[in-house]
Amino acid sequence: MTKTLTILGLESSCDDTAAAVVRHTLGQPAEILSSVVIGQTDLHASFGGVVPEIAARAHAEKIDGCVEAALANAALTLPEMDAIAVTAGPGLIGGVMSGVMCAKGLCAGSGLSLIGVNHLAGHALTPRLTDGVGFPYLMLLVSGGHCQFLVANAADDFTRLGGTIDDAPGEAFDKTAKLLGLPQPGGPAVEIEAQSGNPKRFALPRPLLDRPGCDMSFSGLKTALLRSRDALVAEHGGLRRADRADLCASFQSAVSDVLVEKTRRALRMYLDQNPTKPTFAVAGGVAANQQLRAALETVCVEFGVVFTAPPLKLCTDNAAMIAWAGLERYRQGHVDDFTLTARPRWPLDDKSPTMLGSGKKGAKA
Ligand code: KG4
Ligand code: ZN
Repeated sequence: MTKTLTILGLESSCDDTAAAVVRHTLGQPAEILSSVVIGQTDLHASFGGVVPEIAARAHAEKIDGCVEAALANAALTLPEMDAIAVTAGPGLIGGVMSGVMCAKGLCAGSGLSLIGVNHLAGHALTPRLTDGVGFPYLMLLVSGGHCQFLVANAADDFTRLGGTIDDAPGEAFDKTAKLLGLPQPGGPAVEIEAQSGNPKRFALPRPLLDRPGCDMSFSGLKTALLRSRDALVAEHGGLRRADRADLCASFQSAVSDVLVEKTRRALRMYLDQNPTKPTFAVAGGVAANQQLRAALETVCVEFGVVFTAPPLKLCTDNAAMIAWAGLERYRQGHVDDFTLTARPRWPLDDKSPTMLGSGKKGAKA
């Protein structure tokens, strides 16, 4: 296998159409030569969630242009690639199909190898793309579509220690913002309000902390918040500024407390493997939250574990992570043929029971 590999990656599993070119030479840091992401937020905004049919059509319309832009930005042509990696699941099936069909067409025309990538593996392997983190490491994926603890043992070997059984935390932030009349995406808006709020004023629940293990639940938290809001509205005829800030601060602390305690449990399970350089990585849009991030860093210090968090633009959906995950597979000699199919569900760890959660951004595992 050549020492230097250049891979084109395609991503279209949710509401971002993306293409990227990644290059890696053995023994050196990986290089992202280009990364193009075309979001669809505006198309779905009035529906309160991603509409699969609209998403699929937009992916089909945009993916060719995305590939052209990614190659142009990298100043490379298709024949200069070693292989094409594409998200083959899990996700919204119409979108995944757009990517898979496009990749198959490009491979058929160019003779390049095709590599089907699990979208979650893309997220989970990002710390290796950005920081060259060695296996095994513990990963918390926490976004609007994902929430799970994974031990990455190898590029194609993950153990899921637990995850959400209903909403992802990002969804809970977004719904909280909506209930309080704050703009979308809710996470940043709630975080700003929370800065001036009292996190102790409302005793919101910390769901599933009374149960062993690393599974989580966030939908009850939103219901509790709704009750507190309605009680305030009934008493005062509306929400005062301080009420909103206190609700946001109380909600944010509840989410952070749950994630921190479950991280402690996940770390204990991971450290039982005696990793040589114990490392914890957090990725996903919610990892941008300063209170959560600081709390997770503190837990890592407590456990003597290295903390790492990839830059936000590589935590949210992108194709550089798919190109990288494909590159890791290709180095190991894995390629797919044209029987590769789009999979709506594709758990990273098929030894663990299926997660029930499947919120506004589709399947979680
Ligand atoms: O990873 P991401 O961009 O997209 C997917 O979910 O795939 O994550 C977006 C989610 C949104 O729900 C957003 O509200 C949340 O991440 N988010 C935050 C913050 N910034 C973004 N949540 C809490 N605090 C933040 N600062
Ligand atoms: Zn994702």
